[in-house]
Amino acid sequence: MANGLDDVVAADTVLSDVDGAGGHLTIRGHSLTELAAHWRYGQVVRLLFDGFFDELPGDAELEKAIGDARVEVFERLQPMLTELAPLHIYSAMRAGIALLPDGDGLADALRLTAAPAVLTPALLRLSRGKKPIAPDASADHAADMLKMLGGTASPALAKALDTYLVTVCDHGLNASTFATRVVASTQAGLTSAILAGLGALKGPLHGGAPGPVIEMLDAIEASGDAAAWLRDEIARGERIMGFGHRIYRVRDPRADVLKAVVRRLGARSQTSSGKAGSRLAFAETVEQAALDVLRIAKPQRSIQTNVEFYTALLLEAAGFPEEAFSNVFAAGRVAGWIAHAREQQVTGRMIRPQSRYVGPVPDLVA
Ligand code: ACO
Repeated sequence: MANGLDDVVAADTVLSDVDGAGGHLTIRGHSLTELAAHWRYGQVVRLLFDGFFDELPGDAELEKAIGDARVEVFERLQPMLTELAPLHIYSAMRAGIALLPDGDGLADALRLTAAPAVLTPALLRLSRGKKPIAPDASADHAADMLKMLGGTASPALAKALDTYLVTVCDHGLNASTFATRVVASTQAGLTSAILAGLGALKGPLHGGAPGPVIEMLDAIEASGDAAAWLRDEIARGERIMGFGHRIYRVRDPRADVLKAVVRRLGARSQTSSGKAGSRLAFAETVEQAALDVLRIAKPQRSIQTNVEFYTALLLEAAGFPEEAFSNVFAAGRVAGWIAHAREQQVTGRMIRPQSRYVGPVPDLVA
């Protein structure tokens, strides 16, 4: 048995399907491409929650309820934010979420959906010595997240962030979703389950990769030779962040969706060395160099671009600092975690696999 449970089917789900050979992602009967092009995050939350809560309202009402939940979370947690702000932004967000009630109802689900979007900008502002900006219940979720960050948000940027949240809302039984389901299977509350997902998402092999992608782009730019830099990394046994996936053997479809978003945004930014230029054009050069280097260095494995590579560019363009990238990922994925937690809870079955003991055995008395 592989330590990573490769190919083990551990749940039946109606929520999403990852076709690793074909490079397709289906979310409740819809292709990612369709959702990313035509749906808002609030609508996707409704799609994921449908059937898992008795009293689920229609699209418009649910989006309004998410707005109300943003305000409620802000008002509940505001007194504690100053204490949390000195922590790393991810730990601070997780600590804030841990303070929310731990029930299983729609109100709990909406608070948890709202929480990363509220806590991330508020904590970022406090860590920069600025006052948090209160949420606007009537605003669109992504637009409000940007407004809470900086007070204004262009419609193009808000749309880009909304598409990002839709793109990462759910993705089969990835590590954080599995962790969420394990905790939910004990009939612990949704907050406990989401905290497990947050713990798993933090790691650099999962949701913690996009921050290092920016560091990699800066280091490669400073080195002046992408291929040589990448070859050195692999020779030192390091992994190239933003590449490779347990399930996809072809390009991650989310990478294409996000690349198109970044291109539309015309994301222009200064690289860390101060030279003007397009981050996107540079990243495309690095991507091609990485694919070439990986093809030669790891011929036994098809290692392709994953979602995190263009996530880094999009979130940088949206004004989030690297250290908050995983927070924004959580702001999108939280809806999928909640739906999976509910789906697991209703099975009534606790997840309790076996391990095989391979340690020393006690001496048996003859
Ligand atoms: N860079 C260099 N080598 C890699 C990479 C990479 N990004 N990914 C896999 N490999 C190599 C491994 O070193 C290994 O080589 P070896 O056989 O010579 O030892 C081989 O490919 C297989 O590696 P596994 O760990 O079995 O591959 P797995 O499919 O489990 O890895 C993972 C998936 C963890 C995502 C990996 O590709 C990785 O570490 N990528 C970099 C981190 C990253 O981008 N994470 C975000 C993933 S997307 C998400 O979770 C939202």
